[in-house]
Amino acid sequence: MQRGNDLQQKRVVVVGGSSGIGLAVAQQAASQGAKVVIVSSNAERIQKAVERIGGEAQGQAVEASDERAVESFFAKLGPFDHLAFTAGDSLHLHELASTDLQQARRAFELRYWSALAAVKYGSPHIRKDGSIVLTTGVAGRRPHKGWTVAASVCGTIEALTRALAVELAPIRVNAVCPGVVRTNLWQSMDADARENLYESVGKSLLVGRVGEACEIARAYLFLMQEGYSTGQTVVLDGGAVLV
Ligand SMILES: NC(=O)c1ccc[n+]([C@@H]2O[C@H](COP(=O)([O-])OP(=O)(O)OC[C@H]3O[C@@H](n4cnc5c(N)ncnc54)[C@H](OP(=O)(O)O)[C@@H]3O)[C@@H](O)[C@H]2O)c1
Repeated sequence: MQRGNDLQQKRVVVVGGSSGIGLAVAQQAASQGAKVVIVSSNAERIQKAVERIGGEAQGQAVEASDERAVESFFAKLGPFDHLAFTAGDSLHLHELASTDLQQARRAFELRYWSALAAVKYGSPHIRKDGSIVLTTGVAGRRPHKGWTVAASVCGTIEALTRALAVELAPIRVNAVCPGVVRTNLWQSMDADARENLYESVGKSLLVGRVGEACEIARAYLFLMQEGYSTGQTVVLDGGAVLV
């Protein structure tokens, strides 16, 4: 018996879909016939991304940390098949002695609390055989000095993924754990510093380079379609956890 989902005519919602990994997920899902809805906080970026995706793609500006806005977005959206949550902001990287604990609390705002809100208000609308794919990061598995808070956020998402898989079954809930990927997440750095980072991190990895958004996106599509994994985290890190 053949099981598993193709994405033809499936409705896929990507929170964080205007850029980077989320945009690549939306583009790949749309290219496989999915009806894609992308969400991010900025209407202009959404509009540009919708044009890049083309076809039947739709988009809406929703501030993911505004619980009422997230609730209202999903209430109006109606039934859909797959939710990918890729919204993210810069990592909180400070050694513990210089960590401002109030600021550190805010590191959980988008990546954890907004993901939880999207799942809380989105999951009741997910159709049978649907799935949720969250996003964590390799900081949780291979922390470096100064990554205590960032590692905590990532580890929390992995635990959340397992707990949601149990609570929301039969909806499948998985996560993708990227290492360093060339995206707008690093845009706050000046261009030279950013290229130096990509080069030095790349050289330290077993594959010899940092990742590309389109490579990471394939894991989201795999997890939406394969039908049998739940509570799992798929790591795509160029071998970072081994060095
Ligand atoms: N790139 C990496 O090296 C790397 C490594 C490990 C993990 N990750 C994780 O991968 C995920 C995707 O990151 P990326 O690299 O693709 O970054 P990105 O290119 O900066 O994309 C982030 C997305 O999140 C959206 N977003 C940011 N704040 C938002 C908010 N308050 N409400 C709604 N949407 C918001 C952004 O759109 P707007 O600005 O328009 O709101 C954008 O669509 C993040 O969780 C990140 O932590 C990335």
